Parts: sequence; structure tokens; C-alpha cells
Amino acid sequence: MYLGIDLGTSSVKALLIDHDQRIVDSASAEVDLSRPHHGWSEQDPADWIAATEQALSELKRDHAAEMAAVRGIGLSGHMHGATLLDGDDTVLRPCIMWNDVRSHAEAAALDSDPRFRSITGNIVFPGFTAPKLVWVKNNEPEIFAKVRKVLLPKDYLRLWLTGEHISEMSDSAGTSWLDTGARAWSADLLSATDLSEDAMPSLVEGSEAGGQLRAEIATRFGMNAGITVAGGAGDNAAAAIGMGTIHDGSAFASLGTSGVLFAANNAYLPNAESAVHAFCHALPNTWHQMGVILSATDSLNWYEKITGIDAADMTDALGESLDAPSGVIFLPYLGGERTPHNDASIRGAFVGVGHESDRNALTRSVLEGVSFAFRDCLEALQAAGTSLDSVTAVGGGSRSAYWLKLLATVLGVPVQVPADGDFGAAFGAARLGLMAAEGADPAAVCTPPDIQRVHEPESGLSAAYGDAHARYKALYPAIKGVMT
Ligand code: XUL
Repeated sequence: MYLGIDLGTSSVKALLIDHDQRIVDSASAEVDLSRPHHGWSEQDPADWIAATEQALSELKRDHAAEMAAVRGIGLSGHMHGATLLDGDDTVLRPCIMWNDVRSHAEAAALDSDPRFRSITGNIVFPGFTAPKLVWVKNNEPEIFAKVRKVLLPKDYLRLWLTGEHISEMSDSAGTSWLDTGARAWSADLLSATDLSEDAMPSLVEGSEAGGQLRAEIATRFGMNAGITVAGGAGDNAAAAIGMGTIHDGSAFASLGTSGVLFAANNAYLPNAESAVHAFCHALPNTWHQMGVILSATDSLNWYEKITGIDAADMTDALGESLDAPSGVIFLPYLGGERTPHNDASIRGAFVGVGHESDRNALTRSVLEGVSFAFRDCLEALQAAGTSLDSVTAVGGGSRSAYWLKLLATVLGVPVQVPADGDFGAAFGAARLGLMAAEGADPAAVCTPPDIQRVHEPESGLSAAYGDAHARYKALYPAIKGVMT
């Protein structure tokens, strides 16, 4: 048996798999998020432990024999959060989360130091960890003076499980302190934020051992003391391990609230200028790129609120056969955009609305706009040397066949739909636990899910969608020009 624990933004999920990777069961417990000021987002690390205790107690209650047979544990979690500890490992303040933007000025200041982009391969985004520490130094100097260790959220759970300060490459690549190509902390970047390597956990690969379970925790949850806790991964890399997205050419598109185009790379291929994230993957000698759009299904949710009609009813009304472009162009920048613009202040638009623009046309334009945003991500990844043969679609938006046909045509690659199953971050974490405990071959463990359906690009409509995408791209600078 292997156990995956995913610390999500709204809940902790613990999932048990057997040696053949069949899911035995899972248990979840909610975690609160507080927003004490505009742009702030915090969690109390004690709540992560309480939620993990609740989920593990449930698994022990329902599956005592399986918990006693666990041989490896893997961890996954939301990225970028700053968990600050003093010399006794006491938490100094609530964790500043990935979606907290209070440190935007500090991020811009670090980003203007060329060493950050050249060493980390990424823009210093306000959500990343380093600018948060600069904010604490400037605004809470008495806390900054006490900081002895900075841990990412899932690594604080590891401290509780193992008693050790350890992290791994994929999550650490989102701090702005890692030399992403060399897979090592950068002394230069740490000193640029008045820290040193002493404040960082030691580093392992995600599929290697990163600590052993403490006897006290093992006894409480009916497991064996000393079993291996794997390095684990940030949540996106963990989901990729769960999906088998581990080699060059493999990619997934997550059509969730936000949208992610994730490609695995056998080499380190940064492209910070296009706001692509280039991070280490959770397996040795592999990296990944990620384009992130902020409003994917959220665009449709916004449109649902405006029309008062259920989003699924609106997409169902389009049928399954793809139409020519709607003629209306929707820019999905409802809350700004990360890739390719890195622009927090841009906002969306409908352009080209006419008397003939009925509800279906506007629904189509929303789906088209989000698909064009994915195409921008694909182009940003391609500019950094990635080439994709196909993309696997996951997330709520992948239930609409019309949208997936559209996405295939706009991206110019087949879009695959996996058969039902749970291959999210907790499953990927459990796979990392298996690899670390058994030394198993990643290629044998990280197989892709069965594919239920493949949507091919509609070649007769490719040129028309190519033209529509070119018009979409021309609108960003125009809208930016009139809005600022
Ligand atoms: C990745 C990112 C989010 C978080 C939260 O860069 O900000 O995906 O990991 O899930």
C-alpha cells in the first residue's frame, strides 16, 4: 500500500493505492482560507495538520489493515506559500499563500534584478515565495528577524510527519530562490533577499526518499514507524505524475477555474519573457513548462451569472459539431492574465457584437476566447522549444465535447479525453511514495490513463480559427492602450 497526501487550497486529501495502483479509498477534510485585507490570502499551518489528522483518522477507521501495510507516503501541495519558522520550529505568522498579491511591488523590484530571471528561468511573480519574505522584512521586521527556516506548505506537513526540514525540486522551483537548471539553491538570490541557505530545507528529488515517518505519528494512525516519505511535488507536477505526463511531447490542458497548459520536458527550457513557468519536474533530470491563464471555466461561470442560464445548458445548446468562428471576440482577462502578458490590471472585452449576435454566438465566443488563451500558452511553450503531438484535457470544462473539438482545432493537435478515474495530485503523490519506497522505474509507474475519446482538429476550419486567433491577439495591445 502507498499513501498520497495532497494539501489543496480548500482541503487536504489522503488517498490509498495498492501495489497495482488501484485506488483503495480516499478521505478529505476542509481547510479555511482567510483574506484579512484586500489582496491577502492566508492559512494557519496548524489547520493543515488538523485536516491531515482528520483524513488519516478516517482512513485508519475504515482501512486499518491497509494503513498497517503502507510502505511509502508521497506529499503534494499548493505551491509558493511562505511558512516561517523560528529556531524551535514554531510558526511565526500565518502562511502567505500562492494567491496572495500583497508583495507585488517587492516582486517587481526583485524581477528588475536580471539575476532572478536568468538563474530561476521565471518572472518573479507576486505569488512566488521570495517577494513575500521581502514584504515581511519591510512590514514585520520583528518577525523577519526571528526567521530560521522558510518551508513550502507541503514541506511543513513533512516536518510534522518526519521531524525533518526537507523539500524537493518541483515545489522549490516556484520560490524564486532555486537555480532551476542546476537543481540547487542559489546563494546569490537568497542573499539578495537577506537570507542564506541555512534558512532553506535540504533538497531531494520528488521520487527519492525525503524523511521517515516518526514513531508517534505512525502509532496514532496505525502505520509502521520509519516508512519512507518521498520528496513529493508541487500540486501541478504531482498531477502530471498522476497523468503520466513525464516525457517530452506529453502535455495536459486543465480546464478548471483557471487554465493550465502543462508540458513535460527532458531538458530545462525557460522562456520567462512570455510568462511561461519553467520548473523542475518531480523526477530526476526532468523539467516542465506551464502556461497559466487565470479565467478558464471561470469565464463561463461569469457568463452564466450574467445570463442566469446554467453553463452546461448553454454549452449543450451548441451541439457537438464545430461551427465556424462566432465573429465576436471575447478576451478572457476577467482578473488580469499571467501567460503570456503577466498583466494584473488588464480586463476582458467582447468585441464585434452585432444585432445578429445571439446567445449561442456569445457562448461560442467565450469558449473561443479561452481556447485562444490556451493557444497563446502553446505558442509561448513552442517559443521555448516545446513541441506537442497531442494534449490530454482534464477539469470541469472537458465535459463539453464542443469545447474540446474547438480546442483541438485552435491548438492544431488532437485533444484526448481520459476514461473516468482519479489521477489528480493525491494519486501522483501516492505514485511518488511508491517510487521512493521501492526504487521503481518512473516510466513503469507513471503510465497515462486509458483514453476514452480523441477529438481531432477540424481541418476545414483551421484557417478560419487561425485568422480569428490573429484578431484576438491584436486586441490585447489595443485594449491595453485604451484602458490605461
Ligand atoms: C502554480 C500555482 C497554483 C498553485 C495552487 O504556479 O500558482 O497552481 O500551485 O494550486
